[in-house]
Amino acid sequence: MSNIPTPHNNAKIGEIADTVLLPGDPLRAKFIADTYLEDVIQYNTVRGMFGYTGYYKGKRISVQGSGMGIPSIGIYSYELIHFYGVKNLIRIGSAGAINESLKPHDVVIGMGACTDSNYASQYNLPGTYAPIASYELMQRAIDIANNQGIKVTVGNILSNDVFYSDAGLDNLSKWKKMGVLCVEMEAAALYMNAARADVNALVILTISDCPFTGEECSAHDRQVAFTKMMEIALELA
Ligand code: ADE
Repeated sequence: MSNIPTPHNNAKIGEIADTVLLPGDPLRAKFIADTYLEDVIQYNTVRGMFGYTGYYKGKRISVQGSGMGIPSIGIYSYELIHFYGVKNLIRIGSAGAINESLKPHDVVIGMGACTDSNYASQYNLPGTYAPIASYELMQRAIDIANNQGIKVTVGNILSNDVFYSDAGLDNLSKWKKMGVLCVEMEAAALYMNAARADVNALVILTISDCPFTGEECSAHDRQVAFTKMMEIALELA
């Protein structure tokens, strides 16, 4: 390990657990730490991207805001892996439904993450890389969801680089034809960073909106759905 603290994380060696939950919103990280964890320390305040370590049912776990978009989660996850030795990274976030069967507050597990980002170009691969979840984390998350009676949809998702696209819904329609379930903005980078470093990553999402129909989650639904996703992620840790 070297370069600690990093330009983005002022945690000291040993302050971050082997398993980290990564909500996009740092205030959600604070909420999780306040609500679910015991004996909590706050290890990061740089740029307001809060990070906490504590215990859930006796297991040591950290929760770190990742920010929005591939560059942001790329930085935070890279540093967690390479400078802090993190082995399991579980993103918990929101997504827009692409598949018509998905409704606000449904939970999706990202088995694979398509992307329109150029992130993979750094690896100079002689083809197209397919970013995928850790099979072991995914299998366990599905088992936990089944045991808790939480319905999850598992499949391919899209990590988009543009939220307000000039193409309107045209691009999403094309991904829809390929069976892609929903759109978010981070998973592909997390899966690539994890694969390159031989560590485990999983993305669990809650549908917050439906770009094709304009449906949106109410604040209440968002909280209920968020709780289901959190329960899976915390048990997984
Ligand atoms: N996250 C939640 N909803 C989204 C959407 N419609 N597009 C991209 N990311 C999202």
